[in-house]
Amino acid sequence: MAPLPNLFFLLAYFSLVSFCSRVHGGETQPSFHSIDIRSIIPSTICSSSNASSGNRLTVVHQHGPCSPLINPRQRLSHRKILHRDQARVVSLHNRISTSRKDKSAGSLAGVTVPNRVGISFSTLDYVVTVGFGTPKKHFTVIFDTGSDISWIQCQPCAGGCYAQKETLFDPSQSSTYANISCTSADCLSFGSYCDASSTCIYSVEYGDGSYTVGFLARETLTLTPSNVLTKFDFGCGETNKGLFGSVAGLVGLGRGKASLASQAAQVYGGVFSYCLPPRVSSTGYLTLGASGPSPNVKFTPMLTEPAAPSFYFVELMGLRVGEKNLSIPSSTFTDVGTIIDSGTVITRLPSSGYSALRDEFRRQMANYSMAPPLSIFDTCYNFTGVVSVSLPPVGLLFSGGVTLDVDPSGILYVVSMSQACLAFAANDDPGSISIIGNVQQRTYDIVYDVARGMIGFGAGGCS
Ligand SMILES: *[C@@H]1O[C@H](CO)[C@@H](O)[C@H](O)[C@H]1NC(C)=O
Ligand SMILES: *[C@@H]1O[C@H](CO)[C@@H](O)[C@H](O)[C@H]1NC(C)=O
Ligand SMILES: *[C@@H]1O[C@H](CO)[C@@H](O)[C@H](O)[C@H]1NC(C)=O
Ligand SMILES: *[C@@H]1O[C@H](CO)[C@@H](O)[C@H](O)[C@H]1NC(C)=O
Ligand SMILES: *[C@@H]1O[C@H](CO)[C@@H](O)[C@H](O)[C@H]1NC(C)=O
Repeated sequence: MAPLPNLFFLLAYFSLVSFCSRVHGGETQPSFHSIDIRSIIPSTICSSSNASSGNRLTVVHQHGPCSPLINPRQRLSHRKILHRDQARVVSLHNRISTSRKDKSAGSLAGVTVPNRVGISFSTLDYVVTVGFGTPKKHFTVIFDTGSDISWIQCQPCAGGCYAQKETLFDPSQSSTYANISCTSADCLSFGSYCDASSTCIYSVEYGDGSYTVGFLARETLTLTPSNVLTKFDFGCGETNKGLFGSVAGLVGLGRGKASLASQAAQVYGGVFSYCLPPRVSSTGYLTLGASGPSPNVKFTPMLTEPAAPSFYFVELMGLRVGEKNLSIPSSTFTDVGTIIDSGTVITRLPSSGYSALRDEFRRQMANYSMAPPLSIFDTCYNFTGVVSVSLPPVGLLFSGGVTLDVDPSGILYVVSMSQACLAFAANDDPGSISIIGNVQQRTYDIVYDVARGMIGFGAGGCS
């Protein structure tokens, strides 16, 4: 606990990080991935289903074979997934540009920005199973870096609950449940309000019209057997309606005060990380707290946008395809800004940046026959009969000399052998922010070090 060793440790760690970044820009980068497209196609069998251990929660895709919620009738078509993804992007863009305009215009009389309106919910794919209450009951919830307040559906569902897979949470059966009163500071800081009985009420409306309303409450949250938060503020949802699938609720990992990440910051040092698996048929993890120094992780600064305080901004500077850095001025990206989001599926880029990426990708993929476009994708290939594809690596270049070399499972969105598409899309509006989506985050350990103001990318986090 002496300060000196800590300092040495940090210095050693920083030099290691910058050393790795430098090596990374050099010739260690393979010029092509040689992959069998079939390896990206999800299997119907769940592989590697390691139970939660230590401070790790197992992350699964809610519609994949590893999901405790699996319901084959609910499987969405690719077109529908992409359509819903576009709805989330539109609501994110609206939310961030509304708050930016609002900030720059000061407080205009007569203009009300609905600050509890969340972003579109229906593409949120990744779930974890946590325990609420004493004795604890298990609930499978979505996690979202674009949301702050966490909530689960609660008995007696005064205004209605949708059908969830697990038994509903019943606060009267938990010895640690407590309502939060109107006079509590947390009630105000969560942007909540009061009812006649002086119980604090929360409400969240998502961009697709889904909503949840109920009591703001305090409860014991068991993440893993060794990770228990005794006073976790969450929404006990009495009126819940919308496209929530069959999950019990949501945990918010946004940057706002109400999120699990912020509430747990004192216990876990303001760090959390996750790894999203390369296929819907394999598992990843979510960890609160540092998972130990991993020399593999390279850090880029986490930026703060006062107008959009719940989101994690990073500084995207450029793109690389194969060994070629694309000649796009970095201002193309830095003028609009970039967020990293667990709930957006496909990365969105300013259209001039996207066009440069697409043109170079098509040039390096000229040996393959193209297939018709699909939804937001304009660059698709027919790999029927092709055993091994030479896929040019795609790199996202961030400030601090950090490159995220997208895993092959994040370069192509594989619908079938006869239609695999470059998994990036252009923003419609040149002023809209870029979004690093979850497909491009696959297999990386993504570290949100809020305390140090850094976002880290560690290759080979999960497979
Ligand atoms: C591409 O850009 C990265 C990051 O700025 C740099 O490290 C690398 O040397 C550049 N590569 C080439 C071939 O210019
Ligand atoms: C499961 O966890 C054990 C112990 O932590 C580890 O040795 C093993 O490699 C893991 N298996 C997979 C498939 O991840
Ligand atoms: C929480 O508040 C609601 C509404 O006032 C009430 O019905 C419920 O009994 C309260 N629960 C507890 C444990 O105080
Ligand atoms: C295309 O195929 C030819 C002949 O097989 C090969 O020489 C060339 O390197 C390939 N080009 C690319 C970009 O893979
Ligand atoms: C893909 O290519 C194969 C073989 O060349 C061809 O038979 C098939 O019709 C193509 N499929 C599509 C959807 O274009």
